[in-house]
Amino acid sequence: MVDWNGIYWGESGSVAEYDKKKFEEFAAQTSEELFRACCDNNGRLKHIIRAEHFNLEFIRTICETAEAARGVAKMEDKFMKGLLTSKSVLNYFHQPSSRTFLSFSMAEAHLGMRREEIRDIKTSSSSKGESEKDSLRTDSSYFDAIVCRHPSDIYDLFAVWVMKTSNRELPFINAGSGKSEHPTQALLDYYTDWRWFKGDLDHKVIAYVGDCKRGRTIHSGAKLLALHKDMKVYFVAPPELQIDEETERYLLDREVKVIKETHGLAQVVPLVDKIYMTRIQNEHGGTGEYDPNFIFRKKFLGMMRPQAILEHPMPKREEIDPEIDYIKNDPAIKYWEEQRNGMWTRVAILAYLFDVDVDIRRRYEKIKEIAEPKT
Ligand code: CP
Repeated sequence: MVDWNGIYWGESGSVAEYDKKKFEEFAAQTSEELFRACCDNNGRLKHIIRAEHFNLEFIRTICETAEAARGVAKMEDKFMKGLLTSKSVLNYFHQPSSRTFLSFSMAEAHLGMRREEIRDIKTSSSSKGESEKDSLRTDSSYFDAIVCRHPSDIYDLFAVWVMKTSNRELPFINAGSGKSEHPTQALLDYYTDWRWFKGDLDHKVIAYVGDCKRGRTIHSGAKLLALHKDMKVYFVAPPELQIDEETERYLLDREVKVIKETHGLAQVVPLVDKIYMTRIQNEHGGTGEYDPNFIFRKKFLGMMRPQAILEHPMPKREEIDPEIDYIKNDPAIKYWEEQRNGMWTRVAILAYLFDVDVDIRRRYEKIKEIAEPKT
């Protein structure tokens, strides 16, 4: 097996070397060129691969479309289900997933899309020595979009390269690539914040807790919040799990104040507007043992700022006190709500990629006008 950067290049060394060289040429472009490669001729994103490609206008469009979609689906499900009946999507998951897979699948159903899945790679022709380049190109023959999760940190770029070298460049959506990025999770986390803080996300203090080093949800989420003014971010983790240099540099370059707290969570709780817990990502090595100093304890709820919230991308393990799951109707506890927000965010992303997001927002305005006629 020829493996490089977690991507399977097939069984033939000479073919793999040729493909790798071509990919390296593509990946060596500047970040601005790679961003342009992810947009259409009008500058609209056609591949959703990295949080650094999103600007505030795009994010606001996603939040407003997600909000409209949940309203329209409640009142006029038939309208929603008629929007993308001619479109199909492959959910191609090389790593386990509950939330991302299911919420994409249900988002596609809400929009009336045809959908297929590959979740067990052993059932694909990779097991016959087909390279991932050829597999992805084959998939693109049958669908109108691909949603994909993969263990490689660079699979997002790899997939865009494959799309651009084929005659059928479909929208590619990164549903989590290795330790590097989880851009649609970042959008759903942002949507959760946007709803709670009523769109006002400047001047906020955020704590990212747990596996800051390898947590792709943290890497993508922090980049979105760096678009706002006067932001301060605490990375709360023991030294070996502290934030990676690249993410820290990205934030500092955008004038985000970065503070690394390596002793524990308790002292940070009263200082922040959002606490974002994460599990230890031991699929990337180590035992997964969680230092008890970084557990979110039930008593911390009473120490939070009045409007502060508690989030977690999930799955969770011991990093949140299990008693907290049994508290009902505390609006500060957001991690169950985030999961449902994920489905509407993914409706918005798909609607945006197929250019029907404006239809959803217009329909929602109409529904609201009928419900509350102007006098
Ligand atoms: N948050 C998240 O990516 O969850 P899954 O791994 O269950 O998709």
